[in-house]
Amino acid sequence: MAWETSRENEAALELLEIRPGDRVLEIGFGHGRSITAAAKLTRGGLVAGVDASPSMLDMARRRNQALVDRGLVDLRQGDSLHLPFEDESFEVAFSVHPVYFWTAPISHMQEVRRVLKDGGRFVLGFRPESEQARRDFPASVYTFRPAEQIHQMLLSAGFRSVRIVDREDAAREVRFALATKGRGGAAGLASKL
Ligand SMILES: C[S@@+](CC[C@H](N)C(=O)[O-])C[C@H]1O[C@@H](n2cnc3c(N)ncnc32)[C@H](O)[C@@H]1O
Repeated sequence: MAWETSRENEAALELLEIRPGDRVLEIGFGHGRSITAAAKLTRGGLVAGVDASPSMLDMARRRNQALVDRGLVDLRQGDSLHLPFEDESFEVAFSVHPVYFWTAPISHMQEVRRVLKDGGRFVLGFRPESEQARRDFPASVYTFRPAEQIHQMLLSAGFRSVRIVDREDAAREVRFALATKGRGGAAGLASKL
């Protein structure tokens, strides 16, 4: 999975424009490779992650053990519907692919917004609804949505300056929603498009 999704994860990290010292949250880190990459970008800031799967937590912890031991990475098992963090804990948050599994996406998005600081940035990577997506993955597990619906859901969750962007370097029709909490805008985020 890490190899299959590496290009969209790299694109998401680039779009986030992580700065040294930023506190970063990844929702649904899976294999944990992007946790390692984000830790390099924050250069001493905290990278936290939440994943629903105990086996993914084990894998990601093993991959990042040295960073966990140094207190630079904090990985937990949990559901993004109830994030185990205080309000306004992070400058940036990202999530690549878990949105298909959210039965009430706006509630998850509101929860991400809650833990972001004012002006905090959120990048959501996803494959929009398409015939190919439906052929590739079982509808009993994956719910694909049109990009416009993801856009509207982020606005309903209270995010501002929501934009959907494409990246040529991302694979398999993957698109990205860039959203900002409160003051500021997504314009800065889009400077690398
Ligand atoms: C398709 S994998 C993507 C992993 C990684 N982000 C990537 O791009 O390769 C989706 C991950 O999201 C996690 N996940 C799904 N629903 C979740 C939820 N509600 N809260 C936290 N993690 C969730 C799954 O356990 C899985 O590890």
